Amino acid sequence: MSIEDKKKWNKKYQNNPIPDTPIELIKEYSKTAKRGRALDIACGMGRHSKYLASIGFEVDALDISSVAIESIINIPNIYPKEVDFDSYTLERNRYDLIICTFFLKRELFPEIVNALKEGGVFIYETFVYHPDNEQTPSERSYLLKEGELEKTFKDRLEFIHIDEYWDKTMKGYKMKKASFVGKKIR
Ligand SMILES: C[S@@+](CC[C@H](N)C(=O)[O-])C[C@H]1O[C@@H](n2cnc3c(N)ncnc32)[C@H](O)[C@@H]1O
Repeated sequence: MSIEDKKKWNKKYQNNPIPDTPIELIKEYSKTAKRGRALDIACGMGRHSKYLASIGFEVDALDISSVAIESIINIPNIYPKEVDFDSYTLERNRYDLIICTFFLKRELFPEIVNALKEGGVFIYETFVYHPDNEQTPSERSYLLKEGELEKTFKDRLEFIHIDEYWDKTMKGYKMKKASFVGKKIR
């Protein structure tokens, strides 16, 4: 288990719980998926799990932080679980919708495709490496490369939306982001 990750995120969430507001991409595109079972990868304090549950999904909400997971127990239609994606395997052919925001673990990409049902939708947004970014993460590998999502998913999912754009972080730093929505057609 990534003990260091767990400690780091528990400390962050204890000192600084993040707002409940879902990002626009999730609000706009979650409606394109069949209302059924959803997975929120690295759900944090569950802002998107709560949104998806409120519009009719049953949501598996997974994260390594026990503080985050404890904050979302006993919410109808949310099934929180503490997991480490360094060792956790997604169940195949289970989800109508998978979302992931601001978490990057490249090894999960093929698993995500396998975990979608036929017709299932994957929605993803995270930061992209760029020399003009105003905030640097602890590790460069936590950032996408420009064009990486297109290359990764072009033979695996039908693209509904793909974009790279400049935005501000919650703390107001200018950062490049990538957003992606794809559908599993077979
Ligand atoms: C930037 S936060 C994003 C949280 C949420 N997706 C959101 O947008 O509000 C990254 C999340 O990844 C989780 N995380 C980091 N490493 C992890 C791992 N190895 N396994 C599972 N979750 C992990 C952290 O606990 C944290 O909640």
